Amino acid sequence: MNKKIFSGVQPTGNLHLGNYLGAIKNFVQLQNDKKNNCIYCVVDLHSITVKQDSKTLKKNIRETTAAFIASGLDSEKSIIFNQSAVPAHSEGAWILGCVSRMGWLSRMTQFKEKAGKDKEKASVGLYIYPVLMASDILLYDATHVPVGDDQKQHLELCRDIAQKFNHDFMSPNFLKPPEPLIQKEFARIMSLKDGNSKMSKSDPSDFSRINLTDEKDLIINKIKKAKTDAMPMPESTDNLDDRPEVLNLLGIYSILSNQNINKTKADFGGKNFSLFKDQLTELLIDKIIPIGKKIKDLLKDEKYLDEILNKGAEKADKLASKKIEEMKTIVGF
Ligand code: AMP
Ligand code: TRP
Repeated sequence: MNKKIFSGVQPTGNLHLGNYLGAIKNFVQLQNDKKNNCIYCVVDLHSITVKQDSKTLKKNIRETTAAFIASGLDSEKSIIFNQSAVPAHSEGAWILGCVSRMGWLSRMTQFKEKAGKDKEKASVGLYIYPVLMASDILLYDATHVPVGDDQKQHLELCRDIAQKFNHDFMSPNFLKPPEPLIQKEFARIMSLKDGNSKMSKSDPSDFSRINLTDEKDLIINKIKKAKTDAMPMPESTDNLDDRPEVLNLLGIYSILSNQNINKTKADFGGKNFSLFKDQLTELLIDKIIPIGKKIKDLLKDEKYLDEILNKGAEKADKLASKKIEEMKTIVGF
């Protein structure tokens, strides 16, 4: 089956290793399979659900685009665009918002986490964020959506919204419930400081993450300081539940080197931790530094990046306009 792939990344600056290993690396693999049609979106409408500075937002939209290209996405093979350039996303979100139920949205753990203790002060946008995400996906009849593990619940909601629309408007199969594509192993890259919380741009400590634009010395330092424990490297896959930091570093090594975790354990089991950290640092420098360098180079050519987005938006708009017109007709407009 030919897959239609759609995914999005928020332009909130400082893309990190979690974004790369959990999402963008897979985008590239999917794009390079000729049977797939891929659409990758810089979801700028999603990013304003929390306050943004307008100049920084513009810079971050370009930076995320640069990170896509630097990681291997190709605007000739994939449609790359920013969400706000295609009005159908917002229109679709309104219509889908009217079939979504408050109860469904209230169960979303990402909202609970992001809104924190004082939910009354969270923006309405943050609450209905998953409806906009459903609109993104359903407008293109996407069959598969590559995301990190944290987005699984939003995709389940997207399927529910599609089915409710089809049911309410008696239009069977009009909206296509998509399948998530989530890595089986290490779908969630954890913080370098705490193996129980995910690597995130919002962590106040920069030493909790490797940013794609970190310089060599900083990467060396961050891995040196990454939390581990006093025990030697484990020899088997079992009983690592109480050593989440160690498991996370082994996972990062395995994905970056495209090898099975058991092979990584066999290579390093029983050996000194510092040897493993040295090799992990080397691997990170080998894989991440070239991406960071390319991002910085691309950012010097704003016109080039804007052109990629404009051309992509034109192609996306053609597809999305057609679907939204059909949707409006079904609704009765
Ligand atoms: P965001 O930056 O939140 O828009 O996330 C972009 C993509 O990166 C989404 O598919 C997320 O699921 C993924 N992602 C973000 N943080 C991590 C992480 N720590 N581990 C794995 N995937 C992640
Ligand atoms: N919510 C996703 C995140 O924070 C980003 C996103 C927006 C997305 N729209 C999407 C991902 C559509 C996949 C498909 O990571």
